[in-house]
Amino acid sequence: MNVYDSERMADILKTQNFETADNPEGVDLVILNTCHIREKAAEKVYSDLGRLRDLKEKSSNEMVIAVAGCVAQAEGEEIMRRAPAVELVFGPQTYHRLPGLLEKVAADKAKGTPARIVDTEFPVEEKFDHLTKNASSAGPTAFLTIQEGCDKFCTFCVVPYTRGGEFSRPVDQILDEARSLAQRGVREVTLLGQNVNAYHGLNKAGGEVGLAGLIRALAEIDGLARIRYTTSHPRDMDDELIRIHGAVAQCMPYLHLPVQSGSDRVLKDMNRRHSAAHYMNLIEKIRKARPDIALSSDFIVGFPGEDDADFQETLKLVKAVGYAQAYSFKYSPRPGTPAAKAPDQVPEDVKKERLAELQALLKAQQTVFNKASEGRVLEVLFERQGKFENQIVGRSPYMQAVHVALDEPGDTKEKYFGHILPVEILAVGPNSLKGKLLTGQLNQSAA
Ligand code: 5AD
Ligand code: SF4
Repeated sequence: MNVYDSERMADILKTQNFETADNPEGVDLVILNTCHIREKAAEKVYSDLGRLRDLKEKSSNEMVIAVAGCVAQAEGEEIMRRAPAVELVFGPQTYHRLPGLLEKVAADKAKGTPARIVDTEFPVEEKFDHLTKNASSAGPTAFLTIQEGCDKFCTFCVVPYTRGGEFSRPVDQILDEARSLAQRGVREVTLLGQNVNAYHGLNKAGGEVGLAGLIRALAEIDGLARIRYTTSHPRDMDDELIRIHGAVAQCMPYLHLPVQSGSDRVLKDMNRRHSAAHYMNLIEKIRKARPDIALSSDFIVGFPGEDDADFQETLKLVKAVGYAQAYSFKYSPRPGTPAAKAPDQVPEDVKKERLAELQALLKAQQTVFNKASEGRVLEVLFERQGKFENQIVGRSPYMQAVHVALDEPGDTKEKYFGHILPVEILAVGPNSLKGKLLTGQLNQSAA
């Protein structure tokens, strides 16, 4: 979502005659769009700010350093205290105010008073109403935020405090943005929300539409060949949404459904509002609707009070599901969240050991999943050039990165971008597949 927000900030700043730069040297404005989810991400902000301060001191123009995102939201005053070079701090719900905030920075400077502005409100006006109508996107795939914030309050998580409460954008606003993306060549949208399957936006008639209804409406848009969504909560995975996976061709066979832990005791302490059995039941239903679905999850190891038996339950669940890929993390205590105050914190070396064991298992499952693609023909949406001159890269329906070496050096690779083409998978690496384009190529491009 930070990627999406950064793109929207760039859109707003374009209307103020800014252009994006490839690196921060000599620029007028740097915005760090930050993440507070784990301590490592949050601390990175301060080391980046140190480097930017040195750059600002050397720079001949008046470089403004701003900090945006969830670290800004959670630690606004702390950033001002620790990083004197920062002149502007704003949270994820106020970035539509950027033009006014920058004007204020400039006016303060002109007066000779140091500009040090913190805007971390949760404003009454709706951010999305103030964003530019035509969201830009860099290629044939795009993110589209449909829902923001969260009311679930998992005990480890900062999101409800930094992004705020659950909010769903109105249906028409989303459809307009999707149409405009499709008109500019976007073939695949990933619908975003911290709790995307809790989406319940209003349509023109004032009726509530869920994620399943929204996907059906998006599937009507010409040119939009692929629809994905992330991140879902098991509690909000209703039968209608599960049915969509088998009923709407544009809905890709990939689902990121975080479980966090396989132990009911830990899940309860996490306030996850679901058991391991409930999750397994969902997986069964989803596989029934779409047998080839690729499954992904998030895991936290070393949550306070997690003992070895709890961790074994997580391994058991992973083995029972068989993931195509997954993300896993050591529990990181976050200020202001209930779990951070729990007395039974797990020692760092135990977290490290459990993470290594879990990641080895998940990696092995990813390899098994990818290996099964060998020799198959997959529809690949090509997005960009690869590392090598004659290489193009895209994604399979299952989110696997697929590399193809063209035997036509000197040709323009761009003609493949935005096309969905059949590729025979010849080899499988740890993180990507290699294949060859089948004959017919562009003429056979799927709709
Ligand atoms: N420590 C470790 N991982 C966390 N996540 C969220 N909060 C924490 C935390 N305090 C992970 C969860 C979530 C993902 C986005 O980040 O697994 O699903
Ligand atoms: Fe955080 Fe997701 Fe839990 Fe919401 S549902 S509190 S975003 S982990």
